[in-house]
Parts: sequence; C-alpha cells; structure tokens
Amino acid sequence: MIRARIIGTGSYVPDRVLTNREIEKKVDTSDSWIVERTGIKERRIAADTQAASDLAYEAALSALKKARLKAKDLDLIIVATVTGDMPFPSTACLLQAKLGAKNAAAFDLGAACSGFIYGLHVASGMIRSGMHQRVLVVGAEVLSRFTDWQDRSTCILFGDGAGAVILEPTREKHGIWSTHIYSDGNLADLIMLPGGGSHAACSRETILKKLHHIKMKGNETFRVAVRTLEELAEDTLAKNDLDPAKLSLLIPHQANLRIIQATAKRLGLPMDKVFLNIQKYGNTSAASVPIALDEAVAEDRIKGGDYVLLEAFGGGLTWASALIRW
Ligand code: COA
Repeated sequence: MIRARIIGTGSYVPDRVLTNREIEKKVDTSDSWIVERTGIKERRIAADTQAASDLAYEAALSALKKARLKAKDLDLIIVATVTGDMPFPSTACLLQAKLGAKNAAAFDLGAACSGFIYGLHVASGMIRSGMHQRVLVVGAEVLSRFTDWQDRSTCILFGDGAGAVILEPTREKHGIWSTHIYSDGNLADLIMLPGGGSHAACSRETILKKLHHIKMKGNETFRVAVRTLEELAEDTLAKNDLDPAKLSLLIPHQANLRIIQATAKRLGLPMDKVFLNIQKYGNTSAASVPIALDEAVAEDRIKGGDYVLLEAFGGGLTWASALIRW
C-alpha cells in the first residue's frame, strides 16, 4: 500500500512582535483578559513589504532544505490561504516562481484555518493515486492586513506566519494514515471576510462599512469549535483503531487555549502531550498547524514511530484532522 510521508517541515514568522500591552494602547482591553480568555501573549506582524507568498517562500525553503530536495524536484505546490497576495494569480503560482519550481503545478486552497489539513488531504490523495510524487503543502497568512484594529473582540486573536511540509510516497507503515475533511456552509456567517470578492467588490462603500475586515461571532464560534473538535479528535482515533493513550502528540489549530484544553480533556490527554505555541503567535489560520508541526519536530517532541494527531477548525465552517505515524 502506498501512502504519503512527510519528509521535511519548515516555518517562518515575521520579526515584528506585537504584544498584548501594545494592543492595550489601541483598544479597551488588557493583557490579563487576553491571556485568560485566549492564552495569547503576543503575535507576529508581517512587514509592509511582505505578502503571503513571501512568508510561504521562507517556510518552503526551510522545508526543502530539511527534505534535502531542490525546488525543481517538486511536481505539485498547494498553498492554503485566505489572505493570498491577490485574487489571481494564485499565491501558489507566485510561490512557484519565487522558488523556481518549474516542474510543479500550483494552486491555492481556501478552507480558512482548516486549509493546511485540507491541503494534506488533497496531497495525500494525489500521492496515493500515483498522480504526484513530491508535493509541497504550505499554509501562509497575513491576517494582520484584514484585521479591524478597532475591534477588540477580533484584533487580539490573529497573527501572521507560514508553515510548510514536503510529502512523498512510501510503502512503509510510517506516514499519513488518514485525513478527514468536513464543512458546514450553513454556518458561514460565524466567521467571514465579506468584502473584496464578487459578493461585495471593493468600493468606497465597502471600505466605509469595513467589509474588508474579519467579522466573527466569537462566542458562538467558540461553542461550535469546542463541540466539533472534541468529536473530531475522538472520531479520528476511532477510525484508526487507536486508543487515545497511544497518542504521542496532539497538534491542534492554535485558536484559543480553552478550546485546545477542552479537546485534550475529552481525550484524557495530559497537556504535556499537546503542542502549544498560541502564546507566541496567536491564531495564524492556515499557517497555525504547520508552524506548530515544524516547531514540534525542531524541539524533538516527535520521534520515529510516534502517533501524531493534527486537527483544525475554521471559517466555512470547515474542520479537518490527520493521523500521522511518524
Ligand atoms: N478585551 C476585553 N473585553 C472583551 C474583549 C477584549 N479583547 N473582547 C470582548 N470583550 C468583552 C465583550 O465585549 C463582552 O462584554 P459584555 O459582557 O460587556 O458584552 C465580554 O468580553 C464577553 O464576550 P464574549 O464574546 O462572550 O467573550 P468570550 O469569552 O467568548 O471570548 C473570544 C471572546 C473571541 C476570545 C472567544 O469567543 C473565542 O476565542 N472564540 C473563538 C475564536 C475562534 O476560534 N475563532 C476562529 C476559529 S478559527
């Protein structure tokens, strides 16, 4: 049986750190409120000169280096993003050019915060079917450019960054055992960026109405996320016939510490088996899971043979999981 295996991970976050204390000066909030309700202490903000493809480029270079591959070895590039450089061409095509990955087809994938795991699902299917051999999957976001810095309920949450993995086929037991993707468009209005598309193309009016900023019904989103992610984690392990006690590491989407703690509790998983970097980066949407995965690898939190569970939840609504035998 052929499955996809991760042979390199990489990540990149911009240098600029924005602390809760600095946000206190912009809106009526406090460091203690943000830490208590979300677990976030600071986040990274892209430089004015950096777009999503620039962040993706740095993460991809790092993943290629670790996989000991050249860009021309890639035959497919998938970039998961909701804050791409421009409506078209795709950020994936812009990244392909920057990398010089001339043998790769390239496209973007939009599934908000679940985008990276959606990307793994697609890439894994392509590899299993034999259609592609070396696939780069990137999650890259510059959310700070779509954040309403006057809205205290959202501006505290988001940050910028990118994470990447490279996949290739294997006949071994190690690799991506299963991926699962789900959507519910009926709950689209819980979290959205309504302006800029064909629904509300950019105009003076859409700008005045702040339609080019992220809108979120935080509390409702929170409740759906907790319920959905708890079930998703249990279900993914059950589908792989894996007892939660055998799980070595849970790498969740870093949206809210309380959501993550609820999932861990439901699985009976101690928090030292959960990877957290939300305190440093906040919610980086599609970039969150691959950045966390790369940091977990760098910190030696994952060893050969470990079972690692990835899961995410986001706008759409979308949610997704992947079980990996490292
Ligand atoms: N600082 C201080 N007070 C704030 C605040 C802030 N940054 N943001 C909101 N509040 C206030 C609200 O105005 C409200 O005040 P009120 O009771 O006087 O009306 C109060 O805090 C409670 O608001 P609520 O929205 O119920 O808070 P919460 O406990 O749900 O926390 C979030 C808000 C956004 C942190 C939380 O809902 C959340 O994380 N939601 C999910 C986010 C998520 O996962 N999104 C993306 C999916 S990828």
